[in-house]
Amino acid sequence: SRTPVTVTVTGAAGQIGYALLFRIASGQLLGADTPVRLRLLEIPQAVKAAEGTAMELDDCAFPLLAGVDIFDDAAKAFEGANVALLVGARPRTKGMERGDLLEANGGIFKPQGEAINAGAADDIKVLVVGNPANTNALIAQQHAPDVPAVRFTAMTRLDHNRALAQLSKKAGVSVSEIRKLTIWGNHSATQYPDVFHAEIAGKNAAETVNDQAWLENDFIPTVAKRGAAIIEARGASSAASAASAAIDHVHTWVNGTADGDWTSMAVVSDGSYGVPEGLISSFPVTTRNGEWEIVQGLEIDDFSRARIDASVNELSEERDAVRKLGLI
Ligand code: NAI
Repeated sequence: SRTPVTVTVTGAAGQIGYALLFRIASGQLLGADTPVRLRLLEIPQAVKAAEGTAMELDDCAFPLLAGVDIFDDAAKAFEGANVALLVGARPRTKGMERGDLLEANGGIFKPQGEAINAGAADDIKVLVVGNPANTNALIAQQHAPDVPAVRFTAMTRLDHNRALAQLSKKAGVSVSEIRKLTIWGNHSATQYPDVFHAEIAGKNAAETVNDQAWLENDFIPTVAKRGAAIIEARGASSAASAASAAIDHVHTWVNGTADGDWTSMAVVSDGSYGVPEGLISSFPVTTRNGEWEIVQGLEIDDFSRARIDASVNELSEERDAVRKLGLI
């Protein structure tokens, strides 16, 4: 049988962790022929809860699960990691300013970046889920100078999947008939879900829907504010859908996008589409052999340009703020 792949998950005792770990251990992250060894990172107060989850993982008797180890020390948790899912983060609480939020998360993602730099496997792939995901990914990446910057990504796949779901309902088609949807920019309310290059059953999606008012006043805000709507309805933030998107993100990164399709990932910009170099921003990307590439040459009209710019400006501001705080 194959050598197990080491997957480190932070925030393992949280809600997303609880929805995520069982799917990883069952083989859905990497594929049904790849055994996994889990390394869980939590803060000391939550180690006991993580141990409880590990007991349940045992009780599932997953054939692909080669072991579970729990740590409260980042240096140990990332040792030998091939895949790292950075889920644990400091949530924004009432009255907290953006600067406080960035600073608190800098205190988490800086040491985690350093630990990845020091101890992860050479082929490490990092997905940051914890918010503010793009900027947390930037902080970690900046503290891992020996790891190629392209290995640090942030999650906009949940936004991508939310957009697929809304568009499939509107068009009355299965999500499997939709291709080439894009989330641009930041994983925040400024994100831009773009259907102008998307296809429904092989035809242009925007033309097929032919309803600009719906696009502007319904689709875009519904996707961008879906997180808040889930909190309002469920009394807790998205967890199973976030975990599902994290599984999709890594699975696609490792196994490749389908011919004639792409996905959305927040990746380090090379200056494509006017996004300042170095920002971790969401783009249309294809993946192959474990590497991603930004889709080139798409025509961006004024409507899309303004929305991409607004979200990218927010990312630039976040980068400036963490620079000012000395976090990068
Ligand atoms: P949660 O609060 O239930 O769990 C977070 C866990 O992280 C807690 O168990 C906490 O003890 C742990 N943690 C805190 N600091 C840590 C550290 N330094 N090292 C290791 N673990 C640490 O939160 P939930 O619902 O699981 O969400 C996690 C994060 O994911 C939040 O930041 C949330 O905003 C974000 N999120 C991102 C989405 C995206 O699309 N990118 C979607 C949904 C949530």
